[in-house]
Amino acid sequence: MSKLNSGVFNNKVAIVTGASSGIGRELAYQLAKQGAQLVLAARDRLRLEEVANNCQTIGSKAIAVTTDVTKQEDCQQLIATTLATYGGIDMLINAAARSIGGYFDEFSDLSLFKTVMEVNYFGSLYCTHYALPYLQKTKGESSEFVAWEAK
Ligand SMILES: NC(=O)c1ccc[n+]([C@@H]2O[C@H](COP(=O)([O-])OP(=O)(O)OC[C@H]3O[C@@H](n4cnc5c(N)ncnc54)[C@H](OP(=O)(O)O)[C@@H]3O)[C@@H](O)[C@H]2O)c1
Repeated sequence: MSKLNSGVFNNKVAIVTGASSGIGRELAYQLAKQGAQLVLAARDRLRLEEVANNCQTIGSKAIAVTTDVTKQEDCQQLIATTLATYGGIDMLINAAARSIGGYFDEFSDLSLFKTVMEVNYFGSLYCTHYALPYLQKTKGESSEFVAWEAK
């Protein structure tokens, strides 16, 4: 990923779900370089704290909030912790995601699709629901990074 334009996110409060790995982690580092104040969410506490420490080393404020986005109460707590820490929300990036690959007619266990929907769809929906009133106050943004591919 190329570097984001310098200073655009200075002091903006950004929540990044799925920040322990992949796209979410890389976005966290890019936002940290731009001076954003970060709230990093995922289930794996150790990996999340490592990312938060790296963001702090870059020079950004960052906290790790252990969150399972399939649990509505975790998403509510994520937003509450953000507000208690920074007082507002400018950005919500829903990067927490599960993916599955393969030919549809070869799947015997359809519960995998339920898990994908719980994380990718409902996880984004819950976080957006609780963050929306505060995003509206700051005229902020919510983004989804969930991809669906069919072959
Ligand atoms: N990377 C690519 O090049 C690429 C390209 C096109 C599309 N995509 C799509 O983009 C999405 C993300 O890709 P990625 O490469 O970033 O995947 P990834 O490296 O597997 O990261 C997924 C993130 O989601 C978190 N997560 C999973 N379940 C969660 C849950 N229940 N609650 C909270 N967090 C959860 C994981 O953290 P924990 O396990 O710690 O919870 C992890 O931080 C996927 O749908 C993928 O198919 C990726």
